[in-house]
Amino acid sequence: MLQMQLFRILLLFSLKLAAAEEKYKKLNLSRINDSMYVVDASFYVGSDEQQINLVQIDTGSSDFWILDKSFCDSPTSEEEENHNGYSNQESCEVYGSFDSNNSDTFQATDREYYIEYGINSADMITSSGQLVSDQVSVGDIHLDELYFGLVTNTTSLPPTLGIGPISREANLSYYNFPYQLQREGLIDVVAYSLSLGQSKGELLFGAIDHSKYNGTLLKTPILQAGSGGTQVLLTGVALTNGSSSVFNETINEGYIYFDSGTPISPLPAKHFDDLFKHHGWEYDRDAMSYLIECGREGEKSILGHTLEYTISGDIVIKVPFEQMVVTVESDGKCYSTVAVTDDESFSFSNDAPFFLAGDEVLRNAYVVYNLETQELAIAPAANNPEETEEDIEIISEDFDIPKAKDYSKFLEYWSTAPPSVTDYAPSSTSSGSISGETGSTSESSTSEDIAPSSVKPLTLWGFAVFFCQLLI
Ligand SMILES: *[C@@H]1O[C@H](CO)[C@@H](O)[C@H](O)[C@H]1NC(C)=O
Ligand SMILES: *[C@@H]1O[C@H](CO)[C@@H](O)[C@H](O)[C@H]1NC(C)=O
Ligand SMILES: *[C@@H]1O[C@H](CO)[C@@H](O)[C@H](O)[C@H]1NC(C)=O
Ligand SMILES: *[C@@H]1O[C@H](CO)[C@@H](O)[C@H](O)[C@H]1NC(C)=O
Ligand SMILES: *[C@@H]1O[C@H](CO)[C@@H](O)[C@H](O)[C@H]1NC(C)=O
Ligand SMILES: *[C@@H]1O[C@H](CO)[C@@H](O)[C@H](O)[C@H]1NC(C)=O
Ligand SMILES: *[C@@H]1O[C@H](CO)[C@@H](O)[C@H](O)[C@H]1NC(C)=O
Ligand SMILES: *[C@@H]1O[C@H](CO)[C@@H](O)[C@H](O)[C@H]1NC(C)=O
Repeated sequence: MLQMQLFRILLLFSLKLAAAEEKYKKLNLSRINDSMYVVDASFYVGSDEQQINLVQIDTGSSDFWILDKSFCDSPTSEEEENHNGYSNQESCEVYGSFDSNNSDTFQATDREYYIEYGINSADMITSSGQLVSDQVSVGDIHLDELYFGLVTNTTSLPPTLGIGPISREANLSYYNFPYQLQREGLIDVVAYSLSLGQSKGELLFGAIDHSKYNGTLLKTPILQAGSGGTQVLLTGVALTNGSSSVFNETINEGYIYFDSGTPISPLPAKHFDDLFKHHGWEYDRDAMSYLIECGREGEKSILGHTLEYTISGDIVIKVPFEQMVVTVESDGKCYSTVAVTDDESFSFSNDAPFFLAGDEVLRNAYVVYNLETQELAIAPAANNPEETEEDIEIISEDFDIPKAKDYSKFLEYWSTAPPSVTDYAPSSTSSGSISGETGSTSESSTSEDIAPSSVKPLTLWGFAVFFCQLLI
């Protein structure tokens, strides 16, 4: 009997040890300038660990890129200066730069690197240079080899860590940061969970923190559309004012795209036109937004509202409308603006409503991205996610989350079968060594032939440019 007990204790103990060895990695995030989440640690690149100070985190793009040393000494273009007010030299001081000549492990490729961000082609911001590889460390993560863009010309600072699917890599195909974590054995499954608080956030690779959400996680498939982001099915959008409903619309095949690289969350004009106009807001196409002078009655009567997104018929993410407002000053006047777009190219097809869920929306949700099973799991965020006691569980290969809701309701709204995982299979679209094939950007769309879309992360600078056009 005693032996039996001892055996059980030993067994429990060894199970505990096994659990302690389970793999996940955490990156702390912080929100800066009310406009972006950056990794709360420096990156160290190359054998001589050159420091990159400030890197934005972006679920809406898929490449890591940093400044090449040669950028620092090149003349500052007017465009660049307009975007962040820094000279190239100053940008290098703020963000850090990389001199490949000083790293023994650096490897160049013959591939040019080129990425565009923005939501309409007239206002794209870009970064270009060369695709290269080297060792990279951040926090307690060390990768022996990571491909990244070494950028010599850019209007889209700060440097960015894009963690989206391989299919969204700029114009190349390779194992990006989340995939490389798995290849080097730091995590088991290419999946991560994102929690954004008011001033801090947390990105867990390979695990879920159950303390960061309120209620139940809903699993839902990532839908193929446009250039292959991480959009899921939006089945309803409602607006309430306290307990009264302003509108409540059921949507058949809509999309919501969770993009942490975007500070704003533009709404489709056709759904919000009446509401804003009714309250005296004016739409400005160039500014892509509704505006009203701060303090007007029409401002107050709208800001108390709550927007409710229903995902896959089953889970509701509530966003206080107040959080979607940007305040801009011009000519001594204050304007409240809500980003709205009537640009049809912004939606995946003319009939499918498309909601870009940037940081404002993401702060009210907990989103688990599983790039291997091509699913997200979503729940409303916990009240104060920055202060919860962590409750971490490793993400299993079959994405089996205890108590998570499966997407049975999804099929009531979506006429075709969920997209198959093999359409995205990373092993067929990328190889560790960069070969001649690109492949991943080809659109292997299913029945929906959804309009090619240039929806890419929009930075606050892109947005600010619209305002400048309007207000100055
Ligand atoms: C994240 O922040 C917490 C609290 O400040 C700290 O204890 C922890 O070590 C940090 N983790 C990493 C990986 O930087
Ligand atoms: C944040 O805002 C400050 C003050 O406007 C500015 O100097 C700084 O460059 C901004 N930081 C970034 C990363 O844009
Ligand atoms: C690296 O070395 C090459 C060859 O000596 C030189 O042309 C290049 O300018 C150097 N790069 C930097 C960033 O100093
Ligand atoms: C990526 O785009 C740039 C600029 O358009 C181009 O020069 C380069 O060849 C492209 N690379 C690949 C691999 O397609
Ligand atoms: C930098 O990129 C911009 C935008 O793509 C382009 O207009 C400009 O000519 C480029 N500058 C250099 C020096 O290559
Ligand atoms: C919107 O309508 C749906 C279906 O009738 C209902 O379940 C939901 O509670 C409504 N939402 C609001 C905010 O009124
Ligand atoms: C929303 O509710 C508030 C408080 O009940 C009220 O003052 C305001 O007029 C309402 N707004 C609209 C648009 O009905
Ligand atoms: C969960 O949401 C409910 C209802 O909004 C709230 O009362 C409760 O405090 C929340 N719990 C946490 C842990 O955020």
